[in-house]
Amino acid sequence: MGGPTMAVIAKRCPDVNVVICDISDSVIKAWQSPELPVKEAGLQDLVTQVRGKNLFFTTDLVRPVLEADIIFVCVDTPPKSCGDKAGYASDTCNFERAIRGIASATKAAGGAGTGRKTVVVKSTVPVGTWRIVRAIFNANGLEHSIVSNPEFLAEGTAVADLLDPSRVLVGSECSKAASQVADLYARWVPRDRIILTDTTSSEMSKLVANALLAQRISSINCASILCERVGADVGHVARAVGADPRIGKAFLRASVGFGGSCFRKDVLNLAHVCRSASLPELGDYWESIVQMNEFQKERFVCTMSTHMFGSLRGKRVAVLGFAFKKNTADARETAAAYVVRRLLQERATVVVYDPMVPESTVRAEVGGDEGASPLLTVAATAAEAANAAHAVAILTEWDEFRYPSEDASCAVDYPSLYRAMTKPAFIFDGRRVTNAEMLRKIGFVAYSVGSAAT
Ligand code: UGA
Repeated sequence: MGGPTMAVIAKRCPDVNVVICDISDSVIKAWQSPELPVKEAGLQDLVTQVRGKNLFFTTDLVRPVLEADIIFVCVDTPPKSCGDKAGYASDTCNFERAIRGIASATKAAGGAGTGRKTVVVKSTVPVGTWRIVRAIFNANGLEHSIVSNPEFLAEGTAVADLLDPSRVLVGSECSKAASQVADLYARWVPRDRIILTDTTSSEMSKLVANALLAQRISSINCASILCERVGADVGHVARAVGADPRIGKAFLRASVGFGGSCFRKDVLNLAHVCRSASLPELGDYWESIVQMNEFQKERFVCTMSTHMFGSLRGKRVAVLGFAFKKNTADARETAAAYVVRRLLQERATVVVYDPMVPESTVRAEVGGDEGASPLLTVAATAAEAANAAHAVAILTEWDEFRYPSEDASCAVDYPSLYRAMTKPAFIFDGRRVTNAEMLRKIGFVAYSVGSAAT
């Protein structure tokens, strides 16, 4: 998030010098090379235009901090993996280290009066974090202003989202610092899309935004299960309900389950914040969004097993798609990792094909004994994965998996997949990118999440 955001600021504000600091030498070298450490549409082009002009990269954390008027903190805050509230609370140790780094760099130079900086928190942080930041600065005699400016970009569309954001949120107790940050964004974002608020509301808005998006997916997935039972089609239901402008059509695609580094983490963090505020009922409410997602993933595996005569042992399953969504190599928290792990536990042989995710990532995300299992392999094409398979499971909505396809030249050839598969040939579409009726005409036994399996 830091790299693309700063590249866009550099592009839109040519008179502003932007310096990206990272403790990792290899990350900084990658940003300076033709192979950027982040793959996003349009990013390479953007970075090439501004690199060396007003966008610079360094592992030196002191000088750029001392010279800056505004410091954006964009470090990761993954879920805690061990200790108290592991899995729920955010691990803010990298974030705190960055804040302490700013404190020690600026303390040496005074850090008050003209040495006062505007410190902008872009990292997704627990509600109330700004008070911790202020406590660290105060304890070091520093008067830096703190601004919360959460990021709402989505992976795969980061540059487009940054160039044309739906809104920019600026929360601060210091109106001068808030104006400084708002003025920066106003260079390319219409003023009516820049929302000024207090710091706590800004921090809270980020968590609630992701929780509401995740909740929509869990709600439509909940409906998808009932649709299958009563013979309705969740696609039709989503179109009908989404036509109401109060509901809207976005984020109503039923799926095998949401993934990505943010939704699960932020929803559980919100649940944790509620419980920490002695509001356990609220914690349970938010957490049910994640529980529904877990249920949907498990249900997908059970559906496969039930259709395939109650046993997956010794059967070959081709998994098409492993990324948490299309157009990214990111597989963090992907539903595919859960499904693959469970298929291996059922003693199926699993062959994964994904156009972008490498084998090392597949194995790491599946994890444990299953990730290292010889029953798990990775194929270079969908045809190779499906060869002699008993079933195909579509777990990411890559365009090449669509059927019928808009571009037949790069699409999966389902009739030839069918011919090469063991019969009966099953297909389980966890992303609703195929027309089940048409697949049945080829000969497949086809299941699509949210549609009756007739
Ligand atoms: C999400 C939010 O959409 C961003 O606004 C936010 O800034 C970002 O998290 C963040 O906090 O950093 P992202 O995780 O990149 O962005 O991906 P999304 O496009 O939101 O998709 C998340 C998951 O939900 C994917 O697995 C996707 O396939 C799934 N999804 C999405 C559905 O299953 N159905 C839908 O209708 C939409």
